[in-house]
Amino acid sequence: MTTEILIPVCDSAALEDGGKGVRFPVTAGGEDAGAFVIRYNGVAYGYLNRCAHIPIELDWNNGEFFESERRYLICSTHGAVYLPETGRCAGGPCRGGRLRAIVVIEKDNQVFWQADEYVRPARA
Ligand code: FES
Repeated sequence: MTTEILIPVCDSAALEDGGKGVRFPVTAGGEDAGAFVIRYNGVAYGYLNRCAHIPIELDWNNGEFFESERRYLICSTHGAVYLPETGRCAGGPCRGGRLRAIVVIEKDNQVFWQADEYVRPARA
């Protein structure tokens, strides 16, 4: 059993649909890692910032996770593309993989993420 921990990320207004994401630090399996939230079709989604091809961050430019058509999340290194709603690979070298989703909750015009067994709050 884990305690549900809700951690604030940003104001809801900070996430434009198909626009820049907001990065935040976490630990993943006990290691320091990064995560991000984006908005797609009005819904906020969160993922570990870790490509399924090579486990490195997706955004070459801080917070730029969408490709130019704003339909997919894209890894800037070799162009893997992911569905924003599920994190499933939709093309490129991530074939068969997916981004590690993080539970995101919006309430009171704030975006929060929820820790789970693997993705935990960043070290203080
Ligand atoms: S590291 Fe992301 S596509 Fe290769």
